[in-house]
Amino acid sequence: MTQPIDFLLSRSSMKLVTAPAPNDDDLARILQAAMAAPDHGSLQPWRFKIIRGEAIGKFADFSIGLRQQSDTPFTPEKEAATRAWLSEVPMIIAVACHIDYGNTAISETERMLATGAAVTNILNAAYMLGYGAFWSTGIATYIDEFQSGLGFDSLDYRFLGFIAIGTPRMAIPQKKRPDYTQFISEWTEPVDV
Ligand SMILES: Cc1cc2nc3c(=O)[nH]c(=O)nc-3n(C[C@H](O)[C@H](O)[C@H](O)COP(=O)(O)O)c2cc1C
Repeated sequence: MTQPIDFLLSRSSMKLVTAPAPNDDDLARILQAAMAAPDHGSLQPWRFKIIRGEAIGKFADFSIGLRQQSDTPFTPEKEAATRAWLSEVPMIIAVACHIDYGNTAISETERMLATGAAVTNILNAAYMLGYGAFWSTGIATYIDEFQSGLGFDSLDYRFLGFIAIGTPRMAIPQKKRPDYTQFISEWTEPVDV
């Protein structure tokens, strides 16, 4: 029997997804998992926009159109590949962190970390429920008009990209992950500097 820890150990992103999108019950559980992220001061800084159905085509036109007008337009091949990818994606969750100007006690960095942790919970929950999910900061993520056009005005939000989510188009690969010991050392006393 698969244990919860086995899901965490085997999770991988899956960019290539198709319909069906998560049903309402599954979407509710995936988004509720985001609410269980660690969150200093319970500021709940995360904000999500659900984009699905015909809105996906509008998202594609809007994001690719802005990218093509930018200083770094896609090549025709990259544009075609991006359109082909998005034409299959049944649901997008756009992500932003709310800037709370009134709160100086808990830094923006900490609020961004809480939002990132919320996205990680979404990715894990989607995987546990059998969906594919992929976090992207591509296309027009760093173009101001894109953020504001999604409803995340840059005065009030840090836009953190979008999650494509749906049914995996192929088996989710079991990736070989690095051995954790490469990243760990023991601390016993202050380091001499
Ligand atoms: C904040 C963030 C933004 C990302 N943006 C992109 C992106 O724009 N394009 C991309 O190919 N991968 C992007 N990735 C990486 C993928 O989401 C994914 O993590 C990567 O392909 C590795 O797959 P894995 O999650 O199975 O290890 C991003 C990851 C993070 C955390």
